[in-house]
Amino acid sequence: MKIVLLGPPGAGKGTQAKSICNRFSIPHISTGDIFRNHISKRTPLGIEAKKSIDRGELVSDELTINLVEERLMQEDCKIGFLLDGFPRTVIQAKALDEFLENKGEKLDTALLIDVPKDFIIERMSGRRVCLSCGASYHIKFNPPNYEGKCDVCGSDVTQRKDDKEETVKDRLQIYHDQTQPLINYYKVKEMLSIVDGTQAINDVFKNICDILGSGNK
Ligand code: AP5
Ligand code: MG
Ligand code: ZN
Repeated sequence: MKIVLLGPPGAGKGTQAKSICNRFSIPHISTGDIFRNHISKRTPLGIEAKKSIDRGELVSDELTINLVEERLMQEDCKIGFLLDGFPRTVIQAKALDEFLENKGEKLDTALLIDVPKDFIIERMSGRRVCLSCGASYHIKFNPPNYEGKCDVCGSDVTQRKDDKEETVKDRLQIYHDQTQPLINYYKVKEMLSIVDGTQAINDVFKNICDILGSGNK
């Protein structure tokens, strides 16, 4: 199964991605997590990406597309994958289509987690993330079992730098300008599915499973 997850910052892409990938045994590819991992290791790519991410801006298409294509060429992606946070521009979406087409493959679905702006600020301000494994928590809606520690790997959970209210506003604007057009891009290709992301985390997941079916693709 080859899935693209779409949705505004804070929609719950990372949260749902973990459950979807467990259920369907496919790798979770989050460009945001990959960039954050490079930033924490201070690699050249991390240093370059940090400049944009801290400002809430997008990393360049060229750098991001190369990174994703390299990842998709790895062995574990042969059975499928879930892309979380990519594509984010029409240029990225076209590059992905072309990449898959060259291998005689195509996406199964682009799944939009639909959440209106009003919900986003509360979700972002209470979010805590694990920089080691990418797991995402919320101090009110989804707290870790032990305060400040990741349930999955035991590392410390922290607040993301780009979750400050000012940066969140910029990220929302960029989503509106650059990523929202992808909804129509996939709609025209009859690949778009939409799930109501304002429900409780488990209910969103149930709806997603209904949409994705048994996963025998
Ligand atoms: P990225 O890490 O992808 O950030 P994002 O898309 O802005 O999305 P978030 O990770 O903020 O939100 P999410 O939808 O994953 O929500 P989550 O599950 O955590 O990208 C970061 C940056 O990297 C970008 O700004 C850009 O600079 C760069 N970048 C990444 N990809 C790029 C690309 N392709 N091209 C160029 N640049 C790129 O949930 C949010 C919170 O809400 C959590 O606390 C969670 O516990 C809680 N929550 C989740 N679901 C629910 C629910 N149903 N009810 C209540 N609370 C919930
Ligand atoms: Mg995320
Ligand atoms: Zn962890």
